[in-house]
Amino acid sequence: MKKKVKVKKQVYYILIVIVILAIGAFYGYQKYQEYLYHQTYEYKLSTIGYSIEEAKLLEEKLPAEKLEFILNEKRSDIFVNLAQEKYFIAKEFDNYYAYYLKHKKMEIKDIVSIINCKVDQEYYSLALPTDMSKEEAIIVNKYYTLKEDYIPDDLVNVSMDYAWGNYGDIRVRKIAYDNFLDMWQAASQAGYYLMINSAFRTYQEQEIVFNNYKDSYGEDYALSIAAKPGYSEHQTGLALDIFSKTNSNRKTFKDSEVAKWLADNAYKFGFILRYPSDKVDLTGYDYEAWHFRYVGPEIAKYIYENDITFEEYYAYFLDK
Ligand code: DAL
Ligand code: ZN
Repeated sequence: MKKKVKVKKQVYYILIVIVILAIGAFYGYQKYQEYLYHQTYEYKLSTIGYSIEEAKLLEEKLPAEKLEFILNEKRSDIFVNLAQEKYFIAKEFDNYYAYYLKHKKMEIKDIVSIINCKVDQEYYSLALPTDMSKEEAIIVNKYYTLKEDYIPDDLVNVSMDYAWGNYGDIRVRKIAYDNFLDMWQAASQAGYYLMINSAFRTYQEQEIVFNNYKDSYGEDYALSIAAKPGYSEHQTGLALDIFSKTNSNRKTFKDSEVAKWLADNAYKFGFILRYPSDKVDLTGYDYEAWHFRYVGPEIAKYIYENDITFEEYYAYFLDK
């Protein structure tokens, strides 16, 4: 009997020890979890005034180095607002912030667009060799350039049914031509007759175009309407200046029905209106109702539906 009581007591003590250990372990575990949480940026950011939602967003969008920078600053909406922008690119964070500090009244969306398009930099100041591996999505503008001797190897002659000049004068890359022909048919069914007046230009031909504008109207005007040689996407063989048979006047074409038809339908055939009237600050060129660029149907559709420039598309989706 005595032995039984003794055993019971022992079990009782063991149970108490187990319970104490379990409580200790549980408590220790909790503390450890808390310690781990305190190491996270979510927690650290919350201690300087960011909500958990904001902190999570910043952590999701920015690398550790930038989060450390934010932690050393006072809490500011600017970081959250930047990270919330649709086309925010983490590697541009420093540029966005520097630009913001100089333009505090500007909308964040515009700051992101300006930086993504590189127009905070002086025109022609970067001379970045464009990435030729992007195929029909190569970018050529006031920052990205082509080599002087670049000539695409699949240029085809445009039929004189669809172009002014002499046969052989107007050449374009095959993929752009095939899609232009489809677009020509669709335009024809809508009652329009499309005509190309310029397409592929060599470096030297672009030099002549630019100098002609410069000699006739001065350098500022030339820069707003023509690219310097090496910086024209006409040299890619993917850009077409399209008018209608009845109107090839640069001044009046923009108000024509066919210009409107092109602006609204070109994307279905892989073309974009490259220099729209409301994007002059981003493209660096005046409105060109006639200049269409083949980028392929998927990219063209996105750009059309989201009302962005090719520069913005390229920076966000392709410049990896
Ligand atoms: N007109 C366009 C900008 C060019 O010269 O390439
Ligand atoms: Zn053009």
